[in-house]
Amino acid sequence: MNHKMRTSLELILLLAVALSCSSTGAKAQATAQGTYTGATSADPWWKHAVIYEIYPRSFQDSNGDGLGDINGIISRLDYLKDLGVDAIWISPMYPSPQVDFGYDISDYEAIDGQFGTMADMERLIAEAKKRNIRVVMDMVLNHTSNQHPWFLDAASSRLSPKHDWYVWNDGKPGSGPDCHEGRVPPNNWRSIFGGSAWEWVPAVHQFYYHEFYKQQPDLNWRNPAVEKAMDNVLQFWLDRGVAGFRLDAIPSLFEDAQLRDEKKTAGVNAYGDPILSREYTDNLPEDHVVIKHLHALMAKYPDDRVLIGETYLPTTVALDKWYGGADHDELNLAMDMLLGFSNKFDAAVFRKYIEEAETQLHGSQPLFVFNNHDNPRALDRYGDGVHNVEIGKVLATVLLASRATPLLYEGEEIRMVTTPPARREDVKDPVGLAGWPKDKGRDSERTPMQWDDTANAGFTALNSTPWLPIPPSYKTQNVKTEAADPDSILNWYKSLIALRRANPWLRNGNHVLLDASNPNILAWIRQAAGGHAVIVICNFSAKEQTAAFHLSERGISAGHVRALLKTTGQENVSSLNAVHMSPFGVYLGEFEE
Ligand code: NOJ
Repeated sequence: MNHKMRTSLELILLLAVALSCSSTGAKAQATAQGTYTGATSADPWWKHAVIYEIYPRSFQDSNGDGLGDINGIISRLDYLKDLGVDAIWISPMYPSPQVDFGYDISDYEAIDGQFGTMADMERLIAEAKKRNIRVVMDMVLNHTSNQHPWFLDAASSRLSPKHDWYVWNDGKPGSGPDCHEGRVPPNNWRSIFGGSAWEWVPAVHQFYYHEFYKQQPDLNWRNPAVEKAMDNVLQFWLDRGVAGFRLDAIPSLFEDAQLRDEKKTAGVNAYGDPILSREYTDNLPEDHVVIKHLHALMAKYPDDRVLIGETYLPTTVALDKWYGGADHDELNLAMDMLLGFSNKFDAAVFRKYIEEAETQLHGSQPLFVFNNHDNPRALDRYGDGVHNVEIGKVLATVLLASRATPLLYEGEEIRMVTTPPARREDVKDPVGLAGWPKDKGRDSERTPMQWDDTANAGFTALNSTPWLPIPPSYKTQNVKTEAADPDSILNWYKSLIALRRANPWLRNGNHVLLDASNPNILAWIRQAAGGHAVIVICNFSAKEQTAAFHLSERGISAGHVRALLKTTGQENVSSLNAVHMSPFGVYLGEFEE
């Protein structure tokens, strides 16, 4: 697209946004582009929201200590509003020894001093609300810190009332490195972060189970007192106006009551541990009883509070169970890690997962995600190193123009790159220390947000030392330069989000797949009742392609299509019988009556 066209397009979008409904996008309204016939006012806000993950240590520092904080987030709310974000999910900011950077919580009802105060948090919720941005908290139900008073109490004596709040075992007679007082762990379970999943506590002469670090003991969800305590935690935050929770590691809540050995699959991981199936430690039927209970708890609150699950699951059918299948009474949004972590930039693979999300979730709302703070950034997994800008635009289109709720991670909108530590002594994430050099840990995707080209990239004061080094890419790859370039990834994200908000069919139309066997082109229609529709066409190849779409059987006359948004160099579509797509070209168009 040439710059002149872009400018006029953006004007159209701005007008449409101004006339359309509030940022929740949930109410049926007239827009600049016609009557909104898709969504009804009954739609929960999260069905139409753009959700943005903030990793608070790395987003914006306000006090010069080199660590991001709540006041820093507040100072960037206008940026998020301008981008078109409807909700932010913030990784944990509760008091924590920070062994796992906040995912080891020692107090669920307070804010860690390094991020700010409870008053700052309340101000963040209020300031975000003024901008129609909701705040979703991260909630870690599977485990606490070993410094949480519950665990300190539990580990002090078998007679402690809190002892049974965690998963303890006497072990079995044995010998070897994991042997204590003649006893070894009860089974072969390994921690996801390396080593045995069992840790010995001399005071009680027992092992406790930890799926993650040994500083993160698993709670015993078979004890009803644990559920009660966590209900209180959720209510504490719901009463303070949070819009819902992202449930950390939620398929790991329960473990097999008989503690059976996991089967070995092939090979060893970066920590030298055998790779085990997770039949007895993940995805147990008991998990669903708890999630149904949480769903009912959330329903007692107004405004459609949301439960989002961190659900790494092997199939879409398995994901469906986390929504409650046909009953829809568990998670509202379960992260689909199949599409965004397939790591194959292949139209057929994308089509398969999109189709599965359409057909195998009993109509539940899919949630697509390509980036988070635990994985190398998407362009380092999907890019070819030569056309990463173009490939990034295709990924953004799949994320923001499909029917799924999109989840973004800070920095993806400016094409931040995975930047691993150069030396083992620079590593902050314990996973990187244990896995070095095969696995350099997750510092790589947690580097500070690149706001501008000044020495600390605008993340922290010039004379401060950021907690992780600013990647060299900040000089050219930052919000300021991206905002100034009409053809940048940032402006592509903004245009797509604005279009999604302004165009009722793109926001809420049904998904209709086109040309299902094309190996290079992924195309679909978003169609609302009455035949209004938007067509989205993405060329996944580095070569020009020609496609033909036959739409009469869809009730759409293949007449004139008006471009809404297209990539630079992509020509207009004059006939759907012969659509010419430029290399990695993207075209979004609206059918004219
Ligand atoms: C998933 C979180 O995203 C990750 O950062 C954390 O280390 C584990 N869960 C354990 O809480």
